[in-house]
Amino acid sequence: MSDKVIIFDTTLRDGEQSPGASMTKDEKVRIARQLERLKVDVIEAGFAASSEGDFQAISAVAAAIKDSIVCSLARANDKDITRASDALKAAKAKRIHAFLATSPLHMAVKLRMSPEEVLEQAKRSIRFARNLADDIEFSAEDGYRSEMDFLCRVVEATIKEGASTINIPDTVGYATPELYGEFIKTLRTRVPNSDKAVWSVHCHNDLGMAVANSLAGVKIGGARQIECTINGLGERAGNTALEEIVMALRTRKDYFDLVCDIDAHQIVPASKMVSHITGFVVQPNKAVVGANAFAHTSGIHQDGILKNRETYEIMRAEDVGWSANKIVLGKLSGRNAFKQRLHDLGIVVEAEADINEAFTRFKTLADQKSEIFDEDIIAIMSDTTSAEAGEHYKFISMSQHSETGERPRSRITLRIGDQEVSSEAEGNGPVDASLNAIEEVAKSGAEQLLYSVNAITSGTQSQGEVTVRLAKGGRIVNGVGTDPDIIAASAKAYLAALNKLHDPSHVKINAQMTP
Ligand code: KIV
Ligand code: ZN
Repeated sequence: MSDKVIIFDTTLRDGEQSPGASMTKDEKVRIARQLERLKVDVIEAGFAASSEGDFQAISAVAAAIKDSIVCSLARANDKDITRASDALKAAKAKRIHAFLATSPLHMAVKLRMSPEEVLEQAKRSIRFARNLADDIEFSAEDGYRSEMDFLCRVVEATIKEGASTINIPDTVGYATPELYGEFIKTLRTRVPNSDKAVWSVHCHNDLGMAVANSLAGVKIGGARQIECTINGLGERAGNTALEEIVMALRTRKDYFDLVCDIDAHQIVPASKMVSHITGFVVQPNKAVVGANAFAHTSGIHQDGILKNRETYEIMRAEDVGWSANKIVLGKLSGRNAFKQRLHDLGIVVEAEADINEAFTRFKTLADQKSEIFDEDIIAIMSDTTSAEAGEHYKFISMSQHSETGERPRSRITLRIGDQEVSSEAEGNGPVDASLNAIEEVAKSGAEQLLYSVNAITSGTQSQGEVTVRLAKGGRIVNGVGTDPDIIAASAKAYLAALNKLHDPSHVKINAQMTP
């Protein structure tokens, strides 16, 4: 059996299903390019049948990516599979990923189908998909809660029809490591043609065991593909975190004796990019990519580290792409220096107009803030690409008054469509007053689900990065705004969220919520 573990990244599909994490086409292409630099084997770019916007995004990723296989999810029916295949047309290497639920509960309640009907549909769909692509993955949704004899029949039949990867998801995060590993092992032992496919694991983190379960699926079960997301992004408690899987395989090679092709130096840049774009902030104590993951504050630990770093450190920060905050550019840096830095960060901007737009933002920031770090440039580029997604609401300027003992007031000027409007409002604090002032004129009526502020580099001269999550009409969107002034960052984040609510291409159906 091969000792290589295939890394299948589903940040752009399962990660995107996280409420509010929906990404635009350009954002998906940027993340896909970073995943390619990370050297992931398979990029699941989306679910083509979920919306016209996602179809276009998958097509754009397929055209941009050369080194990784690009994949689209599809329900196990001809229409979805055709849509996936069409979206992947430009891909150098493509995979169609068809799924169908196999657990008694999902078959009876969600699909309203008998097990025999499910078996037939699974076979038919893989046969159909094989006419459109050579590389076909079949996922037995809620596989871990499926009945073993039935699951063996479905898997054997889909391999016979030509599925070359078989994925057994723990869709609801119910598994425990040993049991999940044994489950995969039993399947592989009992399915007669199991050696004709690569076995894959896909675990959700509802009980905090997604990474442990995936590793057990590999170690005990013999799976050779792990499905995961950057920062463990995903619905509810998230998916298996790519960075933890990769560093566990690498750091404990003595135990796993397996390899993967990931370039670990690209992990932290990928983590930051996904966090900036989606507005899902990484918790400070998150393994590998959290801000504190390599910070040793206790005197005893620091003393040990100074004598020999291995006393308290099992991985090196620089090996996963942490670099000390370096001042990279300043007020006097020119357009060429800015372009070069984008290139060094692996940010590809094709249109001259987009570089000009980003450079103008850089100059504005450099006037406000003397030292510009890589994180600032990444944030500028995130703002630029989200602006490209359509700015029905555009921030122009604002002022506030807040004084002890008085109710804060804010005045804001925006462009809505092609009209410039100003409004004023009070609030509990200056941020609240500013968002109230926007709402005075935007009248969205959206419910605010989350507001968070984060400093993107260290110190009070850092830019503030604000995430606002809004809900309206059953849709949830995140808006992210950055600015050295956190009140302006808050207004920009609120407007970014309103722009997403205004954009119909952000409406997507959730793969697993539909039969
Ligand atoms: O969790 C799950 O079951 C899935 C499948 C669609 C692969 O995401
Ligand atoms: Zn999933």
